[in-house]
Amino acid sequence: KCLTGYTKPFVKCGKQGYVMPGAFKKHAEAIYNMEVRPDDIWVITFPRSGTTWTQELIWLLENDLDFNTAVKKPLYERFPMLETTSQIPKIAFDLIKANFMNLKHFQGLNEAVKRPSHEIIEQAPSPRFIKTHLPLSLLPPSLLNTAKVVYVARDPRDVAVSYYYLHKMIAKNLMRCHFIHFWEAFRRDLLPYLPIVAHTNEAWNQRHHPNLHLVFYEELIKDLPKEIRRVCKFLGREYSDSEIQILANHLRFDSLRKNKNVNNTVGDSGVQFMRKGEAGGWKEHFDDKMVLQADEFLEERLCGLDLRYPSIPMGE
Ligand code: A3P
Repeated sequence: KCLTGYTKPFVKCGKQGYVMPGAFKKHAEAIYNMEVRPDDIWVITFPRSGTTWTQELIWLLENDLDFNTAVKKPLYERFPMLETTSQIPKIAFDLIKANFMNLKHFQGLNEAVKRPSHEIIEQAPSPRFIKTHLPLSLLPPSLLNTAKVVYVARDPRDVAVSYYYLHKMIAKNLMRCHFIHFWEAFRRDLLPYLPIVAHTNEAWNQRHHPNLHLVFYEELIKDLPKEIRRVCKFLGREYSDSEIQILANHLRFDSLRKNKNVNNTVGDSGVQFMRKGEAGGWKEHFDDKMVLQADEFLEERLCGLDLRYPSIPMGE
């Protein structure tokens, strides 16, 4: 617990036992019962799966490629997160508060401390863009039959590495563990939002629902314009090939990395929020034993499910 920097106990939520910071208990019911609107667009992911990338994509498609506003207004204001503030691990929040409260960029947090994010979202005007890392089963049951949902999935091994660096970025002094220890916590479901395969499987099971669009990070990497066209179709938006190309350029890793309204880097750990932007980078972080553990982990978690990741051929 201490190694990963978490000092408060977690709670386990729902049938799958999703791990959440204890403070989530106070908000779980209100979130589950919140009113979903037909013109809402939700992006749901396990953390570090390409959420921010997809949010920027969707916001621009839905706002006639308004790059002017996109470069002026932070993404977290245009597309807020449902379960923030008191659900943010205290270590992370204290760090952000201590370092950034005076900056305009983080002023919104002041209000958010007093008011949970879901309450602000509930009163926000339509159309709402909502980001969450909560799995479908902890969200309002009417969600899929009411609003459009995009779920982004990513190879759990790359997620584990990326999640590790996120923790390093947020709490460099408190999170002293090496990746090998973090991986141990990850594969044993001891970190927020785990278990990851169950999380993704919930969306996978709904992949034929007309209001759910499932996209894999690896497919975004492989052919972004193609994936943008698929999202357009899902949202019922039409753009020309050249507009799609302009959007794809805006969404390129090096371009988003430079974009202060999208790159959520905080602290002085040297770790960037937009870190590597690659698929398969996990191989550099896993030794032979960890590779075997990862194989076992995936085999065990995928057993009995028809969920398949494009980067994990079965029988590998
Ligand atoms: P890495 O840490 O592997 O680089 P999220 O927004 O869900 O927290 O996901 C963050 C991950 O998405 C980070 O992964 C980040 O670099 C990656 N990412 C963000 N924008 C990207 C882009 N345009 N292309 C590729 N990867 C991107």
